Amino acid sequence: MTINTTTGGGVATLEIARPEKKNALTLAMYAAMTDAITAAVADDAVRALLIVGQPGVFTSGNDLADFMQQPPTGEESPVFRFMQALAACDKPVVAAVTGAAVGIGTTMLLHCDLVYVSEEARFAMPFVSLGLVPEFASSLLLPQLMGHAKAAEKLLLGDPLTAAEAVDLGIASAVLPAVDVLAHARRMAERFNSLPRGAVRDTKRLMRSGFKDGILRAMQAEAAIFGERLRSPEAKEAFEAFFARRKPDFSRF
Ligand code: COA
Repeated sequence: MTINTTTGGGVATLEIARPEKKNALTLAMYAAMTDAITAAVADDAVRALLIVGQPGVFTSGNDLADFMQQPPTGEESPVFRFMQALAACDKPVVAAVTGAAVGIGTTMLLHCDLVYVSEEARFAMPFVSLGLVPEFASSLLLPQLMGHAKAAEKLLLGDPLTAAEAVDLGIASAVLPAVDVLAHARRMAERFNSLPRGAVRDTKRLMRSGFKDGILRAMQAEAAIFGERLRSPEAKEAFEAFFARRKPDFSRF
C-alpha cells in the first residue's frame, strides 16, 4: 500500500508512502487519496485532514512512467478526481512538507489550508522543462499569489522555491525545524477539535468562494492543453531523458 490512511484524535491522516520512488504518485495512489478524502468528509468524527509525505520528501509529483504509459484522459482520470476532491473538501486540510514537493506536489498545496514546511523543503513546478503546462489552477493561483513576474520565474523557468520563499510568497504557513514539522502540523489540525465545525466550514467556503468558478475553469482549460502536451515530442524527450539520467535536448523544438 502506498497511501496509508489513519484516523484518530479528530484528524484523518493521509500518508504518501512510496519512498523508493521519492513518493511519485501513481493512478492507484490518486484513487486511494480520493477515497480517503471522501471518507474523511463523510466521517463526523473527523474535524481536519492532514497530508504528509516521508522524511525528506513530500512527493516528486506524478509518476513519470504513468505519464508515458497511462496519461490522464480528462475529468474522470484519477488525478483529476483527486484534485477535485481536495479542492472541494469542506474540512480544513493541513499539509506537512519536509523535502521535495515537485509538480502536483506543490500544486496540491495551493488547495490546502495550512502548510507547514521544514527548512530543507523545496517546491518546484518544472512543467515547461517536461514539455508540459501548469495544472490544477496553478496558472491562475500562482500569479494571483505572487504577481506575474515572480510566478513567471517559477512556472516559465521552473525555478524552485525555498521554504522561506514559500512562506513569503503565500504557499506555506510557516517554516519549522524538520523534526518538529509533523508534530506541529498535527497540533494545528487537532485545534479544529475545539472550534465550532459549522463556522470553520462556512469560513473555508467563503475564503474560497471568490475563486471557485475561476479555479474550475482554469483546471478544465489546463487539462485540455496538458493532455495534448503529454503526447508532444517535447514531453517524450523530457521523460526519456529523466529515466536515462541525461539532460533533455530541446534544440529540435
Ligand atoms: N516518477 C517516476 N519515478 C520517479 C519520479 C517520478 N516523478 N521521481 C523519482 N522517481 C524515481 C527515480 O526514477 C528513481 O528510481 P530508480 O531508483 O528506480 O532509478 C528513484 O525515484 C529515486 O529518484 P532520484 O532521482 O534518484 O532521487 P534524487 O533524490 O536524486 O532526486 C527528485 C529527487 C525528486 C529531485 C528527482 O527524483 C526528480 O526530479 N524527480 C522527477 C520530478 C518530476 O519531474 N516530477 C513530475 C512533475 S510534473
